[in-house]
Amino acid sequence: MNFELKTLDAAAAAGHKTDALIVLLSAEAKLPAGTLAKWVADARKSGDIDATPSKLLTLWHPEGMQATRVVLVSTGDGQAVRVRQAVTAAMGALKAAAPKHVTVCLPDANAPCLQAVAQAVADASYTYTATKPSAKAAVLKRVVLALPTAAKTKAVKPAFEQACAQVAGVALAKEWGNRPANHATPTQLGKVAQGLAKHKRMSCKVLGPKEIEALGMGSFAAVARGSREPMRFIVLQYNGAAKTVAPTVLVGKGITFDTGGISLKPGAGMDEMKFDMCGAASVLGTFEALGLLQPNINVVGLIPTCENMPDGLALKPGDVVTSMSGQTIEVLNTDAEGRLILCDALTYATRFKPSAVIDIATLTGACVIALGHVRSGLFSSSDALAQALCDAGEAALDPCWRLPLDDEYADGLKSNFADVANVGGREGGAITAAKFLQRFAKDYPWAHLDIAGSAWKSGAAKGATGRPVGLLLQYLLTA
Ligand code: BES
Ligand code: MN
Ligand code: ZN
Repeated sequence: MNFELKTLDAAAAAGHKTDALIVLLSAEAKLPAGTLAKWVADARKSGDIDATPSKLLTLWHPEGMQATRVVLVSTGDGQAVRVRQAVTAAMGALKAAAPKHVTVCLPDANAPCLQAVAQAVADASYTYTATKPSAKAAVLKRVVLALPTAAKTKAVKPAFEQACAQVAGVALAKEWGNRPANHATPTQLGKVAQGLAKHKRMSCKVLGPKEIEALGMGSFAAVARGSREPMRFIVLQYNGAAKTVAPTVLVGKGITFDTGGISLKPGAGMDEMKFDMCGAASVLGTFEALGLLQPNINVVGLIPTCENMPDGLALKPGDVVTSMSGQTIEVLNTDAEGRLILCDALTYATRFKPSAVIDIATLTGACVIALGHVRSGLFSSSDALAQALCDAGEAALDPCWRLPLDDEYADGLKSNFADVANVGGREGGAITAAKFLQRFAKDYPWAHLDIAGSAWKSGAAKGATGRPVGLLLQYLLTA
């Protein structure tokens, strides 16, 4: 799919040839006089279109216009969230027509609105085909985002470029999130990362079992031991600034399938644990976006990736492992494996002398209970970092919500047989998980995003969302 930014005034919009012209109408927006304005005024007079968010009217080949279809859609108060809903509704109305070329007319655009439009169009036309070749691949080839004046077009140019990069990054994250575990192994994720290194200023190193053991990552290696699939530790580097500039490190949980291990999960819905590498996928997606945008910053991506399987060699409840930090861990529940692989990656991150480390993980079912599927959970040892991530989430329509890290929440992690246990009680489970990670993230400002509720959708719309690529990219570009 190709995005173009264009200036289309009222007259040009009428003469613009496209399969579908989506016209976004906020309550206040006045269209410049012309054929389009006349159609809109008539529709408003008849009540077929009003200020109700996402209310829409489809016209087929209206007289005086070159577009095959014109969809008038209300964006209510014009906020970015409403704009996203409106575009999603319009794309839904066009589904049967399967347009190859869509043009969206924005009467006015700030950066969040433009990004919302691009992402909504891309999301609506995404089709998963990797293991379902019979699915009709998306036919949408060309998307024109049109603004009424050259000045407005110029003003949104940087936002447009960010939006295009975000769309590509989200698509990559969705694609790898959606692939079943036998088509997205740790080895395959390593290959994807190596493929990204074709971008300018990007490099990649993929470590195998011997190198990971040699680093002393005893906690990560212990999780991988229960599977026949060899583990990988992926190190991605994007160097867009001088070597002296401290990088931001992103750490993504890459459990390509989580059975729970010996603490086996119940069977119902277990297939969704193929999505347990969505943190890793979001790091890969963010690097794709960085590669396309080439900003002047330094970013490191770390991905510990393996399967969590029950096997003769698998971790057993009560086993004690030694992490790369030297801290010993009593594994009371082998299903709390995410923190066991992340803790070693957090220790490894120290060597980059980072300005901040952000880990992204489908870490706890408890986070889904706390925040549902709307906001990701955010934990941070730094108020400034937390605020910056919250702001980025709002701007990118990929929101998160900060949860506390009081030390009392770590009480349940005490162990008689190791420095720390890998689980506390059921209560406040998302927070105890974060408290566990915090022990390994003392050397730098640190934040943890629990995306267990936001990384994928269940039910009829089952599929990865590509979150939080939007949040991460926005943060990196504005931090
Ligand atoms: N990958 C899961 C978390 C998860 C569960 C995400 C359901 C989305 C939906 C994680 O590895 C896990 O199993 N966590 C346990 C932790 C518990 C054993 C302390 C959980 O949340 O049940
Ligand atoms: Mn688990
Ligand atoms: Zn897991």
